[in-house]
Amino acid sequence: MWPSMLFFVYLCSFQQAEAKPRCGGIFTAARGTLQTPGFPGPFPTPIHCEWVIDAQYLLTKNTTIVIYLTELFVFEGLKFTEYQVYDEGFHFNGRDLLVVNETNVIGAKTVETHQSYLVISLKLTTLDGTHLRVLDHFLNVFGFNVTYEIKEGAARTDVCNMMDCGFNGICYDHFT
Ligand SMILES: *[C@@H]1O[C@H](CO)[C@@H](O)[C@H](O)[C@H]1NC(C)=O
Ligand SMILES: *[C@@H]1O[C@H](CO)[C@@H](O)[C@H](O)[C@H]1NC(C)=O
Ligand SMILES: *[C@@H]1O[C@H](CO)[C@@H](O)[C@H](O)[C@H]1NC(C)=O
Repeated sequence: MWPSMLFFVYLCSFQQAEAKPRCGGIFTAARGTLQTPGFPGPFPTPIHCEWVIDAQYLLTKNTTIVIYLTELFVFEGLKFTEYQVYDEGFHFNGRDLLVVNETNVIGAKTVETHQSYLVISLKLTTLDGTHLRVLDHFLNVFGFNVTYEIKEGAARTDVCNMMDCGFNGICYDHFT
């Protein structure tokens, strides 16, 4: 009995280590670009990535973290969550701002929070049936390529998404 229990414990800790994000990262700069590994190409699955935008060093009275969803093609396993605290091993006051699905993937333009942390989490076991297949031209686009900004006040409104481009152009954000 004991040897098999030990094996079980070992297996569990191994799985936990495997489940840790190996992509994404922590972003503290005032602006930047966030993308899936190898964008616009496919990424290996299973995948679990976390992009943590950490505004605690840039906080003013009215800080906003804005993500501009310029190029978003994945509609499964992707969510945007705000947190008051998001340290390794300690998360506080989390609230999902956008859980991407097949319907809202097309219309969503920005995600914003006044909290100190905005976390993008992508967790997929396969690429099959998880991406927009709008035109032949886009058959080979995977994941996302979005920009973010930590700023005072409201989001910019001059930023496109793939819908504005009719899905046959590419939406770039030249500011970030
Ligand atoms: C997609 O998410 C929106 C909220 O962003 C929700 O209102 C809608 O019911 C969801 N649609 C599907 C098909 O799950
Ligand atoms: C804070 O930002 C919001 C937009 O996000 C704006 O409407 C509001 O006027 C700002 N408040 C102050 C005190 O600057
Ligand atoms: C990703 O998005 C940024 C900002 O819109 C853009 O400048 C860049 O060219 C994009 N990268 C790719 C590979 O499309």
